[in-house]
Amino acid sequence: MAEHVRVLKSEEEVDRRIKEMGEQISRDYAGKQIHLICVLKGGSFFMCELAKRITTDVSLDFMSVSSYGSDTKSSGVVKIVKDLDESIQGKDVLVVEDIIDSGRTLSYLMEMLRDRKPASLKLCTLLDKPDRRVVNVDVDYTGFQIPDEFVVGYGLDYDQRYRNLPYIGVISFD
Ligand code: IMP
Ligand code: MG
Repeated sequence: MAEHVRVLKSEEEVDRRIKEMGEQISRDYAGKQIHLICVLKGGSFFMCELAKRITTDVSLDFMSVSSYGSDTKSSGVVKIVKDLDESIQGKDVLVVEDIIDSGRTLSYLMEMLRDRKPASLKLCTLLDKPDRRVVNVDVDYTGFQIPDEFVVGYGLDYDQRYRNLPYIGVISFD
């Protein structure tokens, strides 16, 4: 079976949008230190680019979760594979995610992080597939809303591949 990737959001579009998001976040958090939490692995490309566009003080931490389920569908039961290195108590936390699909992973994760008593907790995602939402998640910053198609690139994988594409593409098989 051959795999094809069609460009959905070009490198220029993605870069421009991340720059805008960084500017908005910098305004919203003016004078504060933002503690960015990257959800590995998908969120890593986005977080690096976003962090470079934020002008207020930034600190970073990483977390890795896996949802019990198949590769293309999450179950809502989330296992922490790698927890944060530092406490988030009293910090202004911004979670950086690659994509929100059913919302199961993020609703679980946000609830868990809220219990750790950050000063504030917001969510930033590069992509959102609103048509697929099963569990409500409050998203504070969204890069692009996209249709219900399986996308790769800019950190997003299909079977661990394609994360390194500098654009967002739709994968198809024939
Ligand atoms: P949710 O719990 O259904 O919102 O799942 C979110 C996770 O599923 C994301 O963090 C991705 O890892 C993965 N995912 C959902 N849709 C896609 C896609 O179109 N391409 C690649 N990964 C996806
Ligand atoms: Mg993810």
